[in-house]
Amino acid sequence: MSSNVSKNIQFFERSFPLHFEYKIRFKNIVRLKGEMMGSKTPVRVGMIGYKFMGKAHSHALRDVPFYFDQGVTPVLQAVAGRDENGVKAAAEKMGWNSYETDWRRLIERDDIDLIDIVTPNNTHAEMAIVAAEAGKHILCEKPLALTLEQSKRMLEAVKKAGVIHMICHNYRFAPAVQYAKQLIEEGRLGKIYHMRATFLQDWNMDPNFPLIWRSRKEISGSGVLGDLGTHIIDLARFLVGEIAEVSGMMETFIKKRPLGDMTSNLRPQIDGDAWGEVDVEDAAAFLARFENGALGVFEVTRFCRGNRAGNRFEINGEKGSIRWDMENLNNLQVYLEDDERGLQGFRTINCTEVEHPYAGAYWPAGHIIGYEHTFINLMVALMDGIEKGYSPSPNFEDGVRNQAVLEAVIQSAETGKWMSIPRLLESSKILSSQTVKNS
Ligand SMILES: NC(=O)c1ccc[n+]([C@@H]2O[C@H](COP(=O)([O-])OP(=O)(O)OC[C@H]3O[C@@H](n4cnc5c(N)ncnc54)[C@H](O)[C@@H]3O)[C@@H](O)[C@H]2O)c1
Repeated sequence: MSSNVSKNIQFFERSFPLHFEYKIRFKNIVRLKGEMMGSKTPVRVGMIGYKFMGKAHSHALRDVPFYFDQGVTPVLQAVAGRDENGVKAAAEKMGWNSYETDWRRLIERDDIDLIDIVTPNNTHAEMAIVAAEAGKHILCEKPLALTLEQSKRMLEAVKKAGVIHMICHNYRFAPAVQYAKQLIEEGRLGKIYHMRATFLQDWNMDPNFPLIWRSRKEISGSGVLGDLGTHIIDLARFLVGEIAEVSGMMETFIKKRPLGDMTSNLRPQIDGDAWGEVDVEDAAAFLARFENGALGVFEVTRFCRGNRAGNRFEINGEKGSIRWDMENLNNLQVYLEDDERGLQGFRTINCTEVEHPYAGAYWPAGHIIGYEHTFINLMVALMDGIEKGYSPSPNFEDGVRNQAVLEAVIQSAETGKWMSIPRLLESSKILSSQTVKNS
């Protein structure tokens, strides 16, 4: 066996351990009934929604078997949308075998194994619960739900049904982020003292930018916090551990906007001359104390000129530090105190070597990958879970824990007090007792 192949096998063994707590009954594995595709078992996907994330997920599902060799393979079986012309055109363009105009009908179909939810946040809970009751595996976009209570009901439903579940926090699947996790787990940074993370954007700054669903509480649950904050909370939980308490603040800079929508090419469109109240935050910031004693500083905003997707973090430990920036996502900056004095400094590691998680499946070293590959890698993890019978992290349990941090930040911003996350979760018998369970 070549050393590259054996390193890839070691990586998969390390990355996808069979989690006993998520191990499900074998019946869910044999429920995949589609015709075998060569030696592979098909996982027939039904996707609900087909715009921004619909495009990212469709592309990723198609590319999984192109780059990765697994025992199961995704099949783009059917996509659902409300507008027949729109969903038909999307199905043709993105390579789906069929379409439905009613998501319930999609879930009812016998030829669907996995439901992929890529619709706005207010639809996640109902769709996921109906899908779980129908015995379908589920991938759900973030944030898991509008509220902590809703997210708990979703977790209860998937656990009761014994289906595989995952939430789409794709950034932790960048090879550089996975490598950061490996360095932390190997103790290269020693005890972790600090994490500071931002996700900064600027698309919403024009006061005439319309009130799209992302700025309406009844559809989105919260503003930039649930949209971008949820991603950096996931990175924090993945890399540093569970958050114990937070102190937050939030601000809405523009209080009224013209009503409108997004067109299919992701450009805003104003509907007539009516205006509406903005009832979610444009910016949020919070301090956090981790259960392991580390301190966190987090900031998310849509009002940071020049920042298109400033998803960045720095983690500092007793023996070293790491930095990552999504706009330069192949690179990880690493400082190690053990380096010879005089040569000490941040080095930039281009995480495209076979030693870097997932990277070996793509191109020769130095041949970089991009945003869409984070989704492909996540789908690979999901397929591994479906093949072997466990729900890979991040799953709905991570979604509930993430939602608790979001809710704690909102409550803290409202009350001006520090909020405890374990207290918000304490009545949740559905959560496992183990505190940190990110793989
Ligand atoms: N993982 C990420 O990085 C990431 C990035 C962007 C968005 N998201 C999440 O993905 C989800 C979708 O966001 P998006 O940017 O793709 O939104 P979008 O507005 O681009 O697309 C939403 C899709 O859902 C459809 N839809 C809306 N309500 C529906 C309903 N009731 N029934 C059926 N279809 C319905 C719309 O027609 C559209 O096809 C959100 O939860 C969002 O938070 C995740």
